[in-house]
Amino acid sequence: MELSATHKKLIRKLAGGQFFSGQQLADELGLSRTSIWNYLKVLETVGFVLHAVKGKGTRLESPLELLDKDAIFAGLSAPCWVNPEHLDLLDICPSTNQHLSQKNVQSPLANGAVCLAEMQTAGRGRLGRTWVSPYGQNIYVSFLWRFKQGITGLSGLSLACGVSVCQALSDLGIEGHRLKWPNDILWQGKKLGGILVEIQGESQGEYTAIIGIGINYKMNAQASANIDQPWADISHACADRVGRNELASRLIEQVLGMLEGYEKKGLAPYVERWNDFDGYYGKNVQILSGQSVTQGVAQGISPSGELQLLLPNGDTQGITSGEVSLRLDVN
Ligand code: BTN
Repeated sequence: MELSATHKKLIRKLAGGQFFSGQQLADELGLSRTSIWNYLKVLETVGFVLHAVKGKGTRLESPLELLDKDAIFAGLSAPCWVNPEHLDLLDICPSTNQHLSQKNVQSPLANGAVCLAEMQTAGRGRLGRTWVSPYGQNIYVSFLWRFKQGITGLSGLSLACGVSVCQALSDLGIEGHRLKWPNDILWQGKKLGGILVEIQGESQGEYTAIIGIGINYKMNAQASANIDQPWADISHACADRVGRNELASRLIEQVLGMLEGYEKKGLAPYVERWNDFDGYYGKNVQILSGQSVTQGVAQGISPSGELQLLLPNGDTQGITSGEVSLRLDVN
């Protein structure tokens, strides 16, 4: 789905959170009040929450900081990893991962191509889940990188990516964020973000990784009603002190820096920091894989990225991520 240029103008007007009367909007956009009303209705159908107050007009329930390519570039410190031509800033797309992957099929993209979107209509999560992706409220970003060393070394990529996301949050002065194996980002135990790495095979042993990151930034009640687990967003973590574009810049810088290093050194430089950020270290956990449940104590990750699980009989079992999920064992 694409919003028209008029919808986008209207969004930019309303993003600041001030009231506008129907007449003001009609005058400023050169339209009739009825057209304005129809455009606003469409915005409501894509998830905008509007408040109309008699005598004042209409405003957004809460202001939005829209993504801005110039602001994102201004926030990157030198050396700047990303070329403006390789950053796609989209309005609405099914999924930023899907966008990069399709574009790469049409014509091969450069290493380090980045895609950000205001909204995803089919945001993808791990294990086939949906990623709730309302307009303007969160960060949805994907990166493309080609690896020549074969697929085995790529199993730790999402773990290294988790470390770079946590580092980006720390750089912004955020505290209380942790990792949950394999690739959840938590804040005070609640889900703040997630990482989805999708690998495509290519000729001569070269693989293309699409690394998608979703970080909840400031989500309204209507959108968050679709999330089926405890969740947090950046505004909970730091009370609006961090801008959405600023967060995008830090993520881009950290993740592209990590991808360059990962190509040469793999997961090794990230294992210790992953374990430092591990929110489940030393906790009783359950590993769920289909119908089977394995209980043990989480002991961080091994150099190859397996979760080290201390079993009740004293053995340690390495768990590979695949189709498994981890939860706290509260019994
Ligand atoms: C998870 O299940 O925890 C992973 C969520 C990953 C969501 C991000 S949002 C940007 C990118 N595009 C997608 O469709 N998914 C990832």
